[in-house]
Amino acid sequence: TQTLNLAVIPGDGIGQEVVPEGLKVLSAALAGSEVTVATTSFDLGAARWHRTGETLTDADLESLKTFDAILLGAVGDPSVPSGVLERGLLLRLRFELDQYVNLRPSLLYPGVPTPLAAPGAIDFVVVREGTEGLYAGNGGTVREGTPHEIATEVSVNTAFGVERVVRYAFAKAAARPAHHLTLVHKTNVLVNAGGLWKRTVDRIAQEYPQVRVDYSHVDAATIYMVTDPGRFDVIVTDNLFGDILTDEAGAITGGIGLAASGNINPEGAYPSMFEPVHGSAPDIAGRGLADPTATIASVALMLDHLGYAREARRVQDAISQDMAERAAGDGTDAGTSVLRRSTAAIGDAIAQRLG
Ligand code: NAD
Ligand code: IPM
Ligand code: MN
Repeated sequence: TQTLNLAVIPGDGIGQEVVPEGLKVLSAALAGSEVTVATTSFDLGAARWHRTGETLTDADLESLKTFDAILLGAVGDPSVPSGVLERGLLLRLRFELDQYVNLRPSLLYPGVPTPLAAPGAIDFVVVREGTEGLYAGNGGTVREGTPHEIATEVSVNTAFGVERVVRYAFAKAAARPAHHLTLVHKTNVLVNAGGLWKRTVDRIAQEYPQVRVDYSHVDAATIYMVTDPGRFDVIVTDNLFGDILTDEAGAITGGIGLAASGNINPEGAYPSMFEPVHGSAPDIAGRGLADPTATIASVALMLDHLGYAREARRVQDAISQDMAERAAGDGTDAGTSVLRRSTAAIGDAIAQRLG
């Protein structure tokens, strides 16, 4: 038997509610297999910050590095100044664990309500850069609070950082049936960073003659995502564009409560971290209203990443069957914040299908 050593960070708000459902399904998926799960929960987030003033200590970080993977719920709370936990905990983890691929698949399950009138088949994956760009924290402000304040955030794009995520995206496109890669950027304005991304994609494309390469400016990409989402297969883009596009991608595929993600360190030098795309949703927290499907789908991504492809597929199939059942209801609950089934009931239903 093998042991999967999993670090768990429920975090804040609905993170505390959706993570137990993810773990429930993980146990069900591995029951009777060769693999046993050993979970270690980390007290990180708003409560810890209020108590100790700490977001993520070096000791926490060193400990987290020893696990096979990390499952995270969400961080951020209205009682904590904006950015303290988002930067000090979540982004610090992505950066320190060198999770440069933020993998965010979007799949429209049959029957799931979407705001699109004619969605067609939606099955694409956003490969979002995870360690650079405008998230790098490269900026500052002078004359703060005065009418003369100047605040800057400078996007950092390194040849090294762009090439490694672009290579990952090409490999992903080559492995998918459509063999199609779209670079999304804003090369018409951001000529420096955009130039680096465009040149990198054009160069790596030479190694992948079977992959059809497209380019779209990010503003136009938000249009195509709602008018013709079927045109996308693999999207590669920078950290902020990827953040924004993947909330939109969640919305068109049944809601942010269904959208999964993995923060991947492909080389395995550090553990990868799996989390729903959504945040702590303070507007619905503590009431059993959150949809745990995004977290459960993130568990499937984790299983796949760890080499348990069969178990990952079983979880995905269970989700898709559950979605079909929910869609066959009155069609109002899938992925929205107005659920007829509670958080735990959805977790139970998906776990039972694996039983
Ligand atoms: P959010 O994703 O938390 O919520 C946006 C909307 O989606 C809300 O109306 C919410 O009720 C709904 N929603 C989110 N998850 C849902 C689910 N599972 N089921 C049903 N409805 C769901 O984004 P926000 O309101 O902009 O941010 C709230 C806090 O979360 C902030 O502190 C923000 O920084 C943080 N945040 C954290 C993460 C993360 O941990 N990865 C991601 C996004 C936002
Ligand atoms: C996400 C979130 C985070 C991001 C925030 C909370 C730092 O929005 O995971 O999409 O911007 O990456
Ligand atoms: Mn986001």
